[in-house]
Amino acid sequence: MDNELLINRTVDFVKEQLANAEGGHDWWHIHRVWKTAKTIAEQEPVANLELVELSALLHDIADSKFHGGDDTVAPRIAGEFLASQGVDPAIIQEVQLIISHISFKGGHNKGTYQSLELSIVQDADRLDAIGAIGIARAFNYGGFKNRPLYDPAQPPNLQKTVEQYKFNNDPTINHFYEKLFLLKDRMNTATGKAMAEQRHAFMEAYVEQFYAEWDGHR
Ligand code: ADP
Ligand code: NI
Repeated sequence: MDNELLINRTVDFVKEQLANAEGGHDWWHIHRVWKTAKTIAEQEPVANLELVELSALLHDIADSKFHGGDDTVAPRIAGEFLASQGVDPAIIQEVQLIISHISFKGGHNKGTYQSLELSIVQDADRLDAIGAIGIARAFNYGGFKNRPLYDPAQPPNLQKTVEQYKFNNDPTINHFYEKLFLLKDRMNTATGKAMAEQRHAFMEAYVEQFYAEWDGHR
C-alpha cells in the first residue's frame, strides 16, 4: 500500500478510536504530536518518516489510565490495525516498541529500547505539554479535577511519590514546577531541545505575568 494511503487510513482509524477521548488526549493532541514529530524528523535525515508518523498517530490509542492501568492494550490495538492494513511485521514491531516506551509514567518503562524514531515521537509528545498549548492543557486538566489555579499557601513539592503525584488536589501552577519546567532538559533531539527552549521561555514569562497580576500589579 502506498505510504500516503496508509497514513490517511491510520488518521481515520485514530479519529474513530478517540471519538470519546478526554480533552488532554483527543484527536487534536495526536494531530499536534504528529505534525511536530514530522517537523523534528525533517531535521534528522536518517529517521524513518513512515515509522515516525505511524507511531505518533498511534501513541495514545488506548491510554492505560482508562484501561485499568493496562499498558499492553495500546500496542495490541495498534498492531492489529497495522496488520489489517498489510503493514510489514518488522515495522509493526517497531511501532509497538515505540508506543510502549514513549511514557515514563510510573517508572515501569526502564528505557531498554532506544531508537531515533522513539526519540523524535517522545520529544513531540513532551513538546505538547509545554508552551502555549501546554499551559492550556494544564489548566484544562486542573479544571477537570476542580483544582485551584494557584494558592500561595501551597508551594510546589518536587519530592512527590508516584502516589502523591496521582492523588492530590494541588494548584495547577504547581504542576509547572513539578513537571512542565523540567521537560526542556529531558529532550532527546537537538531540534526538540531548541523547540523546547522557546516554549519554556514562553511559560516562564507566563508565570511571571501570572504572579504580577495575582498581586494586583499593573
Ligand atoms: P501524558 O501526555 O504524558 O500522557 P498526562 O496524561 O499525565 O500526560 O497529562 C495530560 C496533560 O494533562 C498534560 O498536558 C499534562 O501536563 C496535564 N497534567 C497532568 N497532570 C497534571 C496536573 N497535576 N496538573 C495540571 N496538569 C496536568
Ligand atoms: Ni500523547
